[in-house]
Order: sequence, then structure tokens, then C-alpha cells
Amino acid sequence: MNNVLNKEIKKIIDECPEVGRILEEYGIGCTPCSVGTCLLKDVVGIHNLDPQREATLMYRIEKAIYPNRNVPPPKVDLSKKSEPKKITYSPPVRKLVDEHVLIKRLLALIPMIVEYVETSIKVDKDLVLKCVDFIRTYADKYHHMKEEDILFKYVDEKAEIIQVMFKDHDTGRDHIRQVVEGAEKGNKAQIKEHLLAYRDLLTQHIKKEDEILYPWIDRQLSDAQVGEMFRKCNEADASVGDELPRKYEKFVKNLEEKFLQEITK
Ligand SMILES: [Fe+2]
Ligand SMILES: [Fe+2]
Repeated sequence: MNNVLNKEIKKIIDECPEVGRILEEYGIGCTPCSVGTCLLKDVVGIHNLDPQREATLMYRIEKAIYPNRNVPPPKVDLSKKSEPKKITYSPPVRKLVDEHVLIKRLLALIPMIVEYVETSIKVDKDLVLKCVDFIRTYADKYHHMKEEDILFKYVDEKAEIIQVMFKDHDTGRDHIRQVVEGAEKGNKAQIKEHLLAYRDLLTQHIKKEDEILYPWIDRQLSDAQVGEMFRKCNEADASVGDELPRKYEKFVKNLEEKFLQEITK
């Protein structure tokens, strides 16, 4: 099994698609992963399963790859209930998770914004560009830059999961460029396509960060590194001032009032 553990997951799934299906049952979505050069041992390790679930998963993978091998089943202690691990974050990482909450509130409004744009006679360019400003300034400059310039520096930036995160940030920027072009031209279909694509991308991206990436990074940090990261994140926040998060919080709240009130009319 050791040589399989050190093999790239994409190659394993290509040779034995059943492994992809088993991983998905455990909430480990390697089949749609965009890069796929992770080793099996890292894929399993990064998800931090409880020992019983991990042992059962590895048994099923080994059986799928070597159906004729006499693999001893894992010893499962039925007296122990398999509980999902509760995620706790260090203070600087907690702050990043909290920033996701405001970004998710804007993402939740996107279908309503798209519908409003589609049904208006003329594209409300001002509204679309204000949403773009939130995405570019709060989500990207304020939040993603702390990830790219501070958080990701504490792990191997060449690790596949980090490369996927960088790629998602870039893909998001491309979608937003298209949204701006659509707003300038008054092209409703272009705005709709790229705002919805951005919403799907960021929803998945934030879920990966909250549930997998951030806890994985946190597990590797010493207390001294947590303290150092906290200081660096606070310095980055201080450089833009308290006013910036307050301004965008207010923007999202006003947008919620505008669109949610229309739904409940
Ligand atoms: Fe990110
Ligand atoms: Fe993030």
C-alpha cells in the first residue's frame, strides 16, 4: 500500500475510477480537482478524518485497487461513535473566516442582482460597478491579498492545494473583468454569465478554505507563528483603516434591504 500512498491521486483514479467514487463518499472531491498532482497520502491527510473513518477509507481503496489481495479489514471499535471533527481556528485565521461571511452575503444576492439586471430596460451600470468594487476591494484586495501575502507563506506555496487557491483567485479576477466589460457595453448576457460563474467559483472556494485549507494550515502553525501572523494581518488591516470594512458591511446591508424587501413585498 505504501507505494500507492506516494502516487499521484489523478493517476490512481485514471487507473481505478472506483477510488474517485470512494473518496467522494467521504467528502473528498478529487475527481473534479483542477490540478490533481496531490499524492494519495496528502489527499487523505489534509482532510483530517477521524482514525476509524480513515482506516475504513484506506481499506476500501486498497480493496478497489487490488481486488484479489487478501487485505485484512480495519479493526473498528463499535463502542466509539464516529463524530465529525469540530473545526477550531487560530485568531488570525478566524478573522479570515469571518471575512468570508460578508463575502458570502454578497454572493447570496447575486442571483437577485442578475435577475434585476435582466429585467431592467437599461443595465443599471452603477449597481453592477458597485458590486464589482466590493469584489475587487473587499474580497480581493482586503481579503485575498492577506491570504496570498501572509497566510499562504506559512506553507509550501507549491503545494497543489495552494496552487488551486491562487488559480481560483485569478479565475475570479477574469470573471470580474468580463462583468465590467459587460457593464460598459450594456451586455446583460455577459454580466449574467460571469457574475453567476464568479458566485459558483467563490462559493466552492470559500468552502474549501473554511473546511480544508485553513484547518490544514492551522495544524502546522506553532504558537509563535500564530502570533506573528496575527501581527502581520493586523498591520495589513491597519494600513487600509477601520473605515474600509465598515463601508463594505454597510454596502452589503443596504443591498440586502433593497433586494430582500422586494422579495417579501
Ligand atoms: Fe482564497
Ligand atoms: Fe478566502
